[in-house]
Amino acid sequence: MSGSNSQLQVGDKTVDMAIKEGSVGPAVIDIAKLYAQTGMFTYDPGFTSTASCESQITYIDGDKGVLLYRGFPIEQLAEHGDFLETCYLLLYGELPTAAQKADFDYRITRHTMVHEQMARFFQGFRRDAHPMAVMVGSIGAMSAFYHDSTDISDPHQRMIASMRMIAKIPTLAAMAYKYTIGQPFVYPLNSLDYTSNFLRMCFAVPAEEYKVNPVLSRALDRIFILHADHEQNASTSTVRLAGSSGANPFACIAAGTACLWGPAHGGANEAALKMLEEIGSVDNIPKYIAKAKDKNDPFRLMGFGHRVYKNYDPRAKIMQKTTHEVLNELGIKDDPLLDVAVELERIALSDEYFIEKKLYPNIDFYSGITLKAMGFPTSMFTVLFAVARTVGWIAQWKEMIEDPSQKIGRPRQLYTGSPQRDYTPIGRR
Ligand code: SDX
Repeated sequence: MSGSNSQLQVGDKTVDMAIKEGSVGPAVIDIAKLYAQTGMFTYDPGFTSTASCESQITYIDGDKGVLLYRGFPIEQLAEHGDFLETCYLLLYGELPTAAQKADFDYRITRHTMVHEQMARFFQGFRRDAHPMAVMVGSIGAMSAFYHDSTDISDPHQRMIASMRMIAKIPTLAAMAYKYTIGQPFVYPLNSLDYTSNFLRMCFAVPAEEYKVNPVLSRALDRIFILHADHEQNASTSTVRLAGSSGANPFACIAAGTACLWGPAHGGANEAALKMLEEIGSVDNIPKYIAKAKDKNDPFRLMGFGHRVYKNYDPRAKIMQKTTHEVLNELGIKDDPLLDVAVELERIALSDEYFIEKKLYPNIDFYSGITLKAMGFPTSMFTVLFAVARTVGWIAQWKEMIEDPSQKIGRPRQLYTGSPQRDYTPIGRR
C-alpha cells in the first residue's frame, strides 16, 4: 500500500492523502496537508488514532501482547541482557559488542556522581516532600549545573547530556529517597554495576558495610529493562513536545518526569499497591470489582487496562515471575498482598466486564509488591519507573532532534467558545 493514496470526500471536494507503510504495524494516512486542502482539522483527543511521529526505537503489538526494543522481544532482553545493554540498544539501535559494552559501562559509571552543590539544592525541600516532587525539581535543576551540555545543536553536547542523564538519574533517585528518610547521601561506587550501585546508594548507611544481594540486584535490573521505553506514551510524548521547542534535555526529562507522576501513567504502581492494601483481603475483592464496574464510581482497578495492550502486557508476565523470585529470595512465604493480587487478577480475568473491555494486568500491577518486598517505600515506586524510563525518554528525544523533518509541535483545536464580541465597561455589566 506504500505510496498508495487514500481519498477523503469533504463536501464537494475529494482530497487525496498518501498512505505511509511502516516496517511492521499499522500504516498511516498522511494528513499534513488536510487543513490547507479542506480548511478542517482532524479531531482525536488522547490521540487514540494518531501517530505523532515516525520512530525506529520501540514497537508494541497491543493485540498480540508483543513489545520490541529495536526489534528485539522484551522477553529475550530481560532474560539474557542487562539494563545498560538495553540502554545502549535503545540509544544506538544495535546490541553492543563486548568492547562497546565495556566502554559504555565505563563511561556511564564515571558520570554517576552529581555536582556537589546539588546536595545543597536538596536542602530546600521539606523532608516529607514526595520523592517525585524532589525528582522533578532536581532533574530540572541539572540545567543549572551542567551548562556545558545544554546546546542541543552540538552532537557532542547531546551525547554528554544523554550519558549524564542516564548515569545520574539513579544517584538523584537515591538522594531523593535518603533525603526524605533523613539519612546521609551515599556516593556511587565505581566498582559496582549500575543497579547494584543504585541499591547501595539507597540502602547503605555509614554505620556499617552494605552487601548488595545479587538476586535482588538482578531482579531490579530486569525491572529497569521492562520499564525502559514504550513507544509514544504520555511522558515520552511530553519529552518530545518539550524538546521540539529546543528546550535543553534536562528540562525535557523533568517535563517527562512530571507527566509520569500521574496515577493513570507511571503513578499507577504506587496507586496499585495502595489499592491492594485498601482491599486488604481476598474477601473484599468482589466489592472492589463492583466499584470498578460501576459507571458512577470513579474507582478503577489500578494496574489494570492499557491504551495499547488489549491483551496481556508482556511485561506483566515477566514482572509476576520476578515477584515470586524476589519473595522466595527474601523468604517471604505468604505475602497477603500477593494473595489479593493473584485472586483479584483471577476474578477480573473471568469477569465479563473486563473481558469485554479487554482489561488485563499491566506492568504496574505486580511491580509494587516486588519493590515493597525489596524495601522501597510506596512513594519511591514511580521514582524507580523514572530511573528506568529516562533512557527511553533520552533515546526518543535524540531521535526527534536528529530527525531533519522535525518541527515544533503545535496541535490545533476544535473551538466551541464564544465568537468575537465587544468589551462592555464595568458600569454597564
Ligand atoms: C502505564 O501508554 C503507555 O505505554 C503507558 C505505560 C508505559 O510503559 O509508559 O505502559 C505505563 O501507564 C500503564 C498504565 C497504568 N495505569 C493504570 O493502571 C491506571 C488504571 N488504568 C486506566 O486508568 C486505563 O486503563 C488507562 C489509562 C491505562 C488506559 O485508558 P484508555 O486507553 O484511555 O481507556 P479508557 O480510559 O477509555 O477505558 C476504556 C474503558 C472505559 O469504560 P467505558 O467508558 O468504555 O465504559 O475501560 C474502562 C473505562 O472506564 N477501564 C477500566 C479500567 N481501565 C479502563 N475500568 C476499570 N478499571 C480500569 N483499570
